[in-house]
Amino acid sequence: MTTRRLAEMKQRGEKIAMLTAYDYSMARLVDQAGMDVILVGDSASNVMAGHVTTLPITLDQMIYHAQCVTRGVERALVVVDLPFGSYQGNSKEALASAIRIMKESGAEAVKMEGGAEIRESIERILSAGIPVMGHLGLTPQSINKFGTYNVRAKEEAEAQKLIDDARMLDEIGCFGMVLEKIPAKLAAEVTAQVSIPTIGIGAGGACDGQVLVLQDMLGVNQGFQPRFLRRYADLATTITGAISHYVEDVKSQDFPNDKEQY
Ligand code: KIV
Repeated sequence: MTTRRLAEMKQRGEKIAMLTAYDYSMARLVDQAGMDVILVGDSASNVMAGHVTTLPITLDQMIYHAQCVTRGVERALVVVDLPFGSYQGNSKEALASAIRIMKESGAEAVKMEGGAEIRESIERILSAGIPVMGHLGLTPQSINKFGTYNVRAKEEAEAQKLIDDARMLDEIGCFGMVLEKIPAKLAAEVTAQVSIPTIGIGAGGACDGQVLVLQDMLGVNQGFQPRFLRRYADLATTITGAISHYVEDVKSQDFPNDKEQY
């Protein structure tokens, strides 16, 4: 999978499937299931490390997760989030962070949250030949500015800024953008106005593709139930059931049996 192929998919109206992964074993399964794009999201801060926000995860930690994922992936395009604090300071620092991700993990692209305010950083990274995916709407790295994880861009002024930012990302050469938690009508308008694929999460069906967090869609993360989330499995029940069965078998000396020893 390449960024060029994603552009062709948009032109043909073929939807793009994207999912997060953070480790080798799950990345292998996600890739083998036919995923187009695997995102090593900074949501690793939440689902892997147990932090409340995405802010604490470091560049070194993102590189570690990205290395684990790329070892398990043969087909999908691997995109890695630039974490909070690794690109907002200045464009040179942003480029240095993106280069570390590309060199040390073998991923194929980076993703960055924000529009006009980070344009210079995006352009510098693009000028080094590193593909960039934008991320507009609810940008979790700015949670302390927003104050909530509610739907963004419901008001006219914010919606207009989002459209302007989306056009800018397209014009400067990003290969795609995530649209997170915005009204479906606005996402449809953006998708029609830009030439690059839009990948929605809580942004409706008109986007060129969809992305979800792996643990959320597999039902590992039972407490998280936003309206946009479709659960494809109830792994929390399956996993705790299997593990408590193992505990019982060990305690009752049912495991290991004669055939399970040497
Ligand atoms: O970090 C992440 O998982 C993301 C997706 C929610 C798009 O940015």
